[in-house]
Amino acid sequence: MSVLITNIAELITNRQERDAAPDSPATGPDGFAAITDAALVIEQGRVAWTGPASRAPAADEIVDAGARAVLPGFVDSHAHLVFAGERGAEFAARMAGQPYRAGGIRSTVAATRAATDDQLRANLRRLAAEMLVQGITTFECKSGYGLTVADEERSVAIAAEVTPEVTYLGAHVVPPEFDGDPAGYVDLVCGAMLDACAPHARWVDVFCEQGAFGRDEAAAVLAAGMAAGLQPRVHANQLTAGPGVQLAVGVGAASADHCSNLTDADVEALATSPTVATLLPGVEFSTRHPYPDARRLLDAGATVALATDCNPGSCFTSSMPLCVALAVREMHMTTQEAVWAATAGGARALRRTDVGHLGVGAQADLVVIDGPSHAYLAYRPGVPLVAGVWRAGERLV
Ligand code: NIG
Ligand code: FE
Repeated sequence: MSVLITNIAELITNRQERDAAPDSPATGPDGFAAITDAALVIEQGRVAWTGPASRAPAADEIVDAGARAVLPGFVDSHAHLVFAGERGAEFAARMAGQPYRAGGIRSTVAATRAATDDQLRANLRRLAAEMLVQGITTFECKSGYGLTVADEERSVAIAAEVTPEVTYLGAHVVPPEFDGDPAGYVDLVCGAMLDACAPHARWVDVFCEQGAFGRDEAAAVLAAGMAAGLQPRVHANQLTAGPGVQLAVGVGAASADHCSNLTDADVEALATSPTVATLLPGVEFSTRHPYPDARRLLDAGATVALATDCNPGSCFTSSMPLCVALAVREMHMTTQEAVWAATAGGARALRRTDVGHLGVGAQADLVVIDGPSHAYLAYRPGVPLVAGVWRAGERLV
């Protein structure tokens, strides 16, 4: 059964990266590629052909895209979706002048511990559905609001029900019962908690920040996770220009996330390594912090991804179109750079070559935008532009 989607005003394919070694320096947004007046054929859940509509082959079924743009499904490489409760009052207080503090995480930890598995599962599935209707076809999901062995284990297990990109974030903050004994908590994260969580996870992450975990603690968590077969990624340089980015690059992390406070040496380290700089502009929007300098990273040659960081505290959005619009307007990315970063960049941050592009052989994950070009994502901010979503060749929206 083949499906031909035709009458596509602009088909964003991105360039295929399957020939590049997985750890080679990125081509970055140079990989953005588009075909106008295009068509695409799906077979067995994969892209079988792309090209000008005038040369499209025959297919079993024909879908008219109505002169709209078609993009690869968004790849959200950073989200915290297993939690209970909400922190709307904390957001309102921030907008009234209170600062964002990592300590707010503890209130979500209390609500999460008190929730049943089914409550956590229902909240996660609601957020995953929200993401899908906004064009996210691949997402990463972290634990980090349980912070006991049992609560972290159920968090990663529930996440694994909906995505293969599960991240163990036992090292999110030190929970209250370890006040005065952070070393004891790091031992737990690197020991019994890791043993319980590793079978359900692909990634290990740590919040390396003042008020969370310092360099040596974060290095210990990543080393233990890697010894257990997990791949590293790091919450780095969100609130201060700390050691997170250098640590991430040093351990060969797939991604250093946030990157909101960087030294020249941090930019240089990212530009000369395969570690992706994942920017989360929804966080700066929701904390009223200065946006990271995407141009500085891009101009230096770093690979930049965009992700939502959807979580109840620092950024409660599941909208990649919003992140693209913010990246263009506030972080001085071009529309091409932002769309590449939200698709192929996210795939790079998850070390995936099957998603984030629409080259022949890619998973047929695509988003139809109600407009003739990808630029509409930033040109028409806040407008629900996602007119269709396909995942693995199946139309879901
Ligand atoms: O990525 N930085 C640490 N973790 C989250 C915030 C979590 C929260 O505030 O609940 C983040 O921004
Ligand atoms: Fe985060």
